[in-house]
Amino acid sequence: MENSQFDLKGYLNKNRDLVEAALERYLPFKEGIYKDILEAMRYSLFAGGKRLRPILCLAATEAVGGSKEIALPVACALEMIHTYSLIHDDLPAMDNDDLRRGKPTNHKVFGEAMAILAGDGLLTEAFALLSHPDLTQNIPAERVVQVINLIAQAAGYKGMVGGQVMDLNYTGKEIDLKSLETMHRHKTGALIVASVKSGAIVGGGKAEEIDALGEYAVQIGLAFQIVDDILDVEGDVAEMGKRPGSDAEQNKATYPRLLGLSQAKERAKECIKKAIKALEPFERKALPLKAIAEYIGKRRK
Ligand code: IPE
Ligand code: IPE
Ligand code: MG
Ligand code: MG
Ligand code: MG
Repeated sequence: MENSQFDLKGYLNKNRDLVEAALERYLPFKEGIYKDILEAMRYSLFAGGKRLRPILCLAATEAVGGSKEIALPVACALEMIHTYSLIHDDLPAMDNDDLRRGKPTNHKVFGEAMAILAGDGLLTEAFALLSHPDLTQNIPAERVVQVINLIAQAAGYKGMVGGQVMDLNYTGKEIDLKSLETMHRHKTGALIVASVKSGAIVGGGKAEEIDALGEYAVQIGLAFQIVDDILDVEGDVAEMGKRPGSDAEQNKATYPRLLGLSQAKERAKECIKKAIKALEPFERKALPLKAIAEYIGKRRK
């Protein structure tokens, strides 16, 4: 699979614009009784994230031959869940961070109570969007239900929430490599796996295609959090839009802390290699996914 000609930057820009416009349609600002909560939700949702999870969802739909238009509500629901997780992750009771997506964190602007509610609002709105009748007009109902279940499990206690609990429990404590990998697969990997698989499901992928893309996503999901840990050590605040050094300050369990920077980088590279291998059956249809995997290994933000 050659991808020297693939224009990843153009692909990411085009799909990010598609996601931005759809999010604006799904969560427009309105004056009136919901003004305050809409302001807080939209502040973080439109603060300028990479939109990686929705883009992965759309790319997986395309990889199985589906049209990405039908996957847009699913993609946007994933971004709402991700944004909620960031708002809560930054709270003083969790990572206590002040900067996110290049702006003061949600609780710094709106206060802790409103930040909790903005997160709650985004999480629940994601499921309102996933179960909206418009979605079932374009996608067979059984696929919609399958996707809702998949995303709910990935976001919940057996997925991201469970991973965040491990993160809190291991803060300031020793961790072994196996537990660290389990934690990363949960707190970050689970939603990335759900993003890819849900895209493949709504796109009408066959069981073996969904499995292969699932394996791809497990590997990029783990790599994504390893690289996030590495960027906390050597990243740049202006580039990342969040402050590095926060993990070390809090004594978080991370790959560089356990293995050192160079071995952590090696681990991330191995995951990317495995991810790309899982794409072999898809040939050219998976060029965007392949390029995204390579990007995850090299990203600076
Ligand atoms: C940050 O996610 C939180 C992690 C799971 C590491 P991203 O790096 O995707 O953040 P945004 O969405 O681009 O802001
Ligand atoms: C975040 O991990 C995982 C989430 C589920 C939000 P981090 O705590 O390392 O993410 P950042 O570095 O704050 O973005
Ligand atoms: Mg955290
Ligand atoms: Mg954090
Ligand atoms: Mg981090």
